[in-house]
Amino acid sequence: MLLQLRGPLFDNRKVVLLYPHQHNQLTLVSMRLITLFLIALTTLPLHADDRQKVEFPPMMRDHMLANMRDHLLALQEITAQLSAGDYDRAADIAESRLGMSSLESHGASHMARMMPDGMAATGTAMHRAASRFALTARDADVEGGLSKAFGALSDVMEQCVACHAAYKVH
Ligand code: HEC
Repeated sequence: MLLQLRGPLFDNRKVVLLYPHQHNQLTLVSMRLITLFLIALTTLPLHADDRQKVEFPPMMRDHMLANMRDHLLALQEITAQLSAGDYDRAADIAESRLGMSSLESHGASHMARMMPDGMAATGTAMHRAASRFALTARDADVEGGLSKAFGALSDVMEQCVACHAAYKVH
C-alpha cells in the first residue's frame, strides 16, 4: 500500500509499506528513526574532520596563510593567461610564485622545519609540480598543446588538495 509521509524530513514522499497491517504509530516512529540514521550515515563523512592540526607560532601561521592566498591568486592568473594563449606569462607566474624559484621569497626552508614530514613533502611536491608546469607551458607555446599544460596544472592543484585534506592550522 502507499503511505503519504508528512513533514520536512520526508518531503511528503510516498513510500511503499511492505506490511500494510503494520501501518501504525510504531512503524512510523521506527521509519523515522531509520531515516534519521540513514541521513546521519550519509552526511557524517562530509563533516568529519580528521585533518592533523599543525601548531605554528601565530606570525608564521599568518605568513603561511598569506602565502596561501597568493597561491590561489597565482592559479587564477595562470588560468587567465592560458585562456589568453599567453603560455610564457603563465609559466613565469607559476615559476616565480609557486615553483622552485618561489621558495626563498616564501621563507620555505624556515617553514618546512616546523612542518610534519608529510606536510613538508607535499609542499615540496607542489613546488616541483609548479616548476614542471612552467616547462610544460613553455613547450605548449611551441607545440600549441593546451591539454598538456592543463594536465600539468592539475598536477599542481593535486598537491594543494592533498595538503588541505590532511592538515590544518586552526
Ligand atoms: C603543504 C601543505 C599545503 C599546500 C601544498 C597548499 N596548502 Fe593551502 N593551506 C594549507 C593549510 C594547512 C591551510 C590552513 C587550513 C586550515 O587550517 O583550515 C591552507 C589554507 C589555504 C587557503 C586559505 C587561506 C586563509 O587566508 O585562510 C588558501 C586560499 C589556500 N590554502 C590555497 C592553496 C592553493 C591554491 C594551493 C596550491 C597551489 C595550496 N593552498 C597548497 C596547506 C597547504
